[in-house]
Amino acid sequence: MSYAKISQVAHYVPEQIITNDNLSQIMDTNDEWIKTRTGIERRHISRNQTTSDLAAEVAKKLLVKSGLAAEELDFILIATITPDSNMPSTAARVQAAIGATNAFAMDIVAACSGFIFALATAEKFIRSGPYKKGLVIGSETLSKIVDWSDRSTAVLFGDGAGGVLLEEAEQQHFLAESIHSDGSCASSLVSGVVGLSSPFSELGENQPFLTMEGRSIFDFAVRRVSKSIKETVEKAGFSVNEIDTYLLHQANVRLLDKMAKKMGVDREKLPANMMEYGNTSAASVPILLSECVDKNLLTLGSSQKVVLCGFGGGLTWGTLIVTI
Ligand code: ACO
Repeated sequence: MSYAKISQVAHYVPEQIITNDNLSQIMDTNDEWIKTRTGIERRHISRNQTTSDLAAEVAKKLLVKSGLAAEELDFILIATITPDSNMPSTAARVQAAIGATNAFAMDIVAACSGFIFALATAEKFIRSGPYKKGLVIGSETLSKIVDWSDRSTAVLFGDGAGGVLLEEAEQQHFLAESIHSDGSCASSLVSGVVGLSSPFSELGENQPFLTMEGRSIFDFAVRRVSKSIKETVEKAGFSVNEIDTYLLHQANVRLLDKMAKKMGVDREKLPANMMEYGNTSAASVPILLSECVDKNLLTLGSSQKVVLCGFGGGLTWGTLIVTI
């Protein structure tokens, strides 16, 4: 039986920075409201790079950092709700961009939980035997699905990508997982609805842009996601304060405060970076992981115990307890 481990991390964000003040020039909002309600101060918005372009930058960084050739990769999984196209997948575009000719490539759609769902999937591929190395990347250009006339959502999101190289290992690094969906709450977060349009159908409704019931998602995260994280930590055989770091989806800083309190975890164990990037959906957890490694808050190969947790549209939520 082989195990999987995260052996390298990287992130990439578009250069262009849009501050809260920039937004207040195009909509009825202000820096004070955005900062106090969400913690967000700025976000990176793509001028001309697509979701696959951002992901390919992360993939190239992972290859350089690990010294691997692209041909050595067995798979590329991309978590995204903002693909360049449904067909080909964003992952197939990245495979071509980096020349990973021996890798299979596919996208995984689970909104802000996408990276966690993709990593849990990739870990099973490696444990199954034939696959030894692969990339798992969360990449988003949410700016293309945000409704820029809706101040209640437009201020929240940003573009970016982050990912990991997952490799075969001799020891167990994935200690526990729990991944969940509740489609009965689907209407609280919606985007990309394409209705029927054939001459033989009743015309359906199109809803390309993102809509969100912010308050109900907030309550869902505090109640159900906090409970699920705690249960997963206990399933791994730890108490909540034995975990070194909690890398949670970066939607709102007040949400992190409430979740830490609900779980009984020291707030300092939950790093935050939504001030810089806003909510980048599937990219938020891997960007945070990569930044924590860059800032020496986490060290690859140190056996630190880390919680990775995403939650959002679907509804979906997922937690992985890993040692890095
Ligand atoms: N600027 C100024 N005022 C605003 C803005 C804005 N950008 N947006 C809303 N307001 C106003 C509203 O109109 C409302 O005014 P009113 O009281 O006169 O009606 C007031 O501010 C309060 O609005 P609420 O929506 O009640 O604000 P709330 O405190 O709930 O914060 C927020 C909203 C930030 C969205 C919060 O609910 C939240 O963060 N929810 C969680 C979102 C989340 O976790 N998403 C994760 C998944 S995302 C994914 O999967 C893609």
